[in-house]
Amino acid sequence: MRIIVCKGKRAQGEAAAALFAAQILRKADCVLGLATGSTPLETYAALTAMYERGALDFGAVRSFNLDEYVGMKPDQEQSYFRFMYENLFSKVNIPQGNYFLPDGAAADVDAECARYEAAIEAAGGIDLQFLGLGHDGHIGFNEPADHFPLATHCVDLAEQTIEANKRFFASAEDVPRRALTMGIGTIMKARGIVLVVNGADKADITAKVLKGPVVPQVPASILQFHPNVTVILDEAAASKL
Ligand code: GLP
Repeated sequence: MRIIVCKGKRAQGEAAAALFAAQILRKADCVLGLATGSTPLETYAALTAMYERGALDFGAVRSFNLDEYVGMKPDQEQSYFRFMYENLFSKVNIPQGNYFLPDGAAADVDAECARYEAAIEAAGGIDLQFLGLGHDGHIGFNEPADHFPLATHCVDLAEQTIEANKRFFASAEDVPRRALTMGIGTIMKARGIVLVVNGADKADITAKVLKGPVVPQVPASILQFHPNVTVILDEAAASKL
């Protein structure tokens, strides 16, 4: 595990973007694992700037996102599909049909989870996965549990997660209670992982994730066992290491 401590979110975004850019430059038709939330915004902005300058070509890139809310249609304002479209897909030349999210509006969520997992496999697996970190140690929407879920599945969101994500909705009551997420096993199969964490409010959980015991109650702690993880922190998130 490589740990990089940056001065501020913009520098974190530049560092993460450099790793994703290197991946795309090495393998034009690579498969990226992408994330939503506030954390990836600077990374997506830096990748967009590189694309605009002609330094990056997304024409053959494929991507799979970590998760989507259950019941959410792609065109709904708070859907993760819409977030990705507005912050990355519409800004670079990734072809429509090359980017995928779990279908939160699927009638049969279990069938959708199996289909999504199989689609990742069929694409050859994920070359480089972006991860943010939830306050309770979740990655994707893999909440603290008594086991590490293997594959894409449907989860009940923890109260803390609903609280943290209500800022994107009119009120906490409007936050969906369930989500489809890649499993811990799906994430661990990625050939490379970039974990980005910022802010003093995540200093305690960052220390547990990186230095504490590997337990499913702290889902991201499993990353200690992955052979190719780069952790990009700001000084505040690194302050309890
Ligand atoms: C959400 C997402 C995660 C994300 C986490 C942190 O619950 N499902 O993928 O990493 O929150 O979000 P943020 O980056 O906004 O702090």
